[in-house]
Amino acid sequence: MLVELLLAALLGQQPAAPPSAPSPALDYEFYKTRVQPLFLEKRVDHARCVTCHAGSTTLRLQQLSPGAETWNEEQTRQNFDAAVAMVVPGSPGASKLLRHPLARAAGGDVFHGGGQHWVSKTDPDWQVLSAWVNGANLASYTKSASDTRVARIVQTNAAGDNIHLIDPATNKVVGVINDIEVPHGVTSSPDGLRLYFTNESRHTLDVVDGQTLAVTARIHLSGRPNNVAIGKDGRRVYVGIAQAPGAVDVIDTVSLTNAKSIAVKGAIHNVYVTPDGKYVVSGSIPGRMLTVIDAATETIAWELPLSAGIRPVTFEQAPDGSTSRMFVQLSDYHGIAVVDFATRNEVSRFEMVAIPGEEKHTQGLQAAPAHGLGVTPDGKILFATSKVYSQLYAYSLPDLKPLGSVNVGQHPEWLTFSPDGKQVYVAAAGDNSVTVVNTATLKVITRIPVGQVPKRNGTAMLRQ
Ligand code: HEC
Repeated sequence: MLVELLLAALLGQQPAAPPSAPSPALDYEFYKTRVQPLFLEKRVDHARCVTCHAGSTTLRLQQLSPGAETWNEEQTRQNFDAAVAMVVPGSPGASKLLRHPLARAAGGDVFHGGGQHWVSKTDPDWQVLSAWVNGANLASYTKSASDTRVARIVQTNAAGDNIHLIDPATNKVVGVINDIEVPHGVTSSPDGLRLYFTNESRHTLDVVDGQTLAVTARIHLSGRPNNVAIGKDGRRVYVGIAQAPGAVDVIDTVSLTNAKSIAVKGAIHNVYVTPDGKYVVSGSIPGRMLTVIDAATETIAWELPLSAGIRPVTFEQAPDGSTSRMFVQLSDYHGIAVVDFATRNEVSRFEMVAIPGEEKHTQGLQAAPAHGLGVTPDGKILFATSKVYSQLYAYSLPDLKPLGSVNVGQHPEWLTFSPDGKQVYVAAAGDNSVTVVNTATLKVITRIPVGQVPKRNGTAMLRQ
């Protein structure tokens, strides 16, 4: 090296600059699917980036087209250029896009006219931006997301604009998803990367990133949705359309488009996928009809009219995994109907007993005195809620013998289980909380405050 320098000096030449690390390329697809949704995200107490930056600021985002939930391809390209101009590739700390909305105490700029959106650099949104600036692409980023899964009880708030995530290990709220007004149902992708919510205010299926908890897409549905379910391989999401004449919308989760709408009899309240993944089952309240759709062909396999509107349904599995029976709650019936799956018939029904000494509620039942059902993961206990007696009832399977009941708070609704089946989580819609019950002892463990009128819930295994 020294010899070369001397030689260069003798010859009057400039030494070549030492090779520096090339700055990483900024990936467009990563920007489009992971970064750009952050500009649309509604954070609690904050205005959205798009509200101020689609206009005349230096960071100039495109105006959304009228009625659009996100930007089209051309607008996205322009936004990409605007965002690229605000970052230094390979250097998140030197990038204005990351520094400006970051809290000053965490290394952010002194002032941002739009406020401090991220308290620290560990904020998942900031991490996504940082990964992008460091050259992440979708494949590398998904791979680097660890395979560690965490269980989350996902509680939607039917009169709110948010969703609470509870850690069943600690029974504490560990996350809130914002900006989904009147969320109805929830389901999660088998790979643990996404949550899907039906949005009753926008008539969309909202896709939420399981790590950042940001809404990354909203897919338009054929009408106002109610509940939602996902196929076993995660390729299809099924949405019940709660408007006449009645349909189940089928969402392709790769292209994130509404692939097809299956016409069924009557507006749909709930939709399920049987535990073996072979059938999609929808229930209509006005049509009093159970419709069983073949998941492979996406056509109707059979229908079963019952005496009243179809409310929640849950499934019992035979030892080979196939569906043996369906348990069905009905409008204005304080009990459960039992449907044999093979013979396609209602075989029995039974009422849930009155609880002496318990205040009897008759107000605000919305024609559903009983509106929550579930079978423990080991298939041994059937749980059902009652709004009339504020109860959670337990029945052994397969014999349906009563095991007892417990008060779980006002207007209990849906229920879901911790993955080990040891705890059941009941949404107490009238108390704005979730009641946690030990499934073996039927004792209340705790009550967890959530949002306004919690109803539907589910259990997800999210990748961290
Ligand atoms: C309430 C309106 C408002 C919101 C919301 C807002 N900003 Fe800003 N932002 C401003 C204003 C005003 C400026 C210019 C003054 C300044 O530098 O603070 C600015 C400046 C910036 C700048 C520096 C470049 C420029 O345009 O001047 C960046 C980068 C930026 N904002 C990013 C964001 C991001 C990312 C978000 C969302 C996380 C966001 N802002 C949310 C109002 C807003």
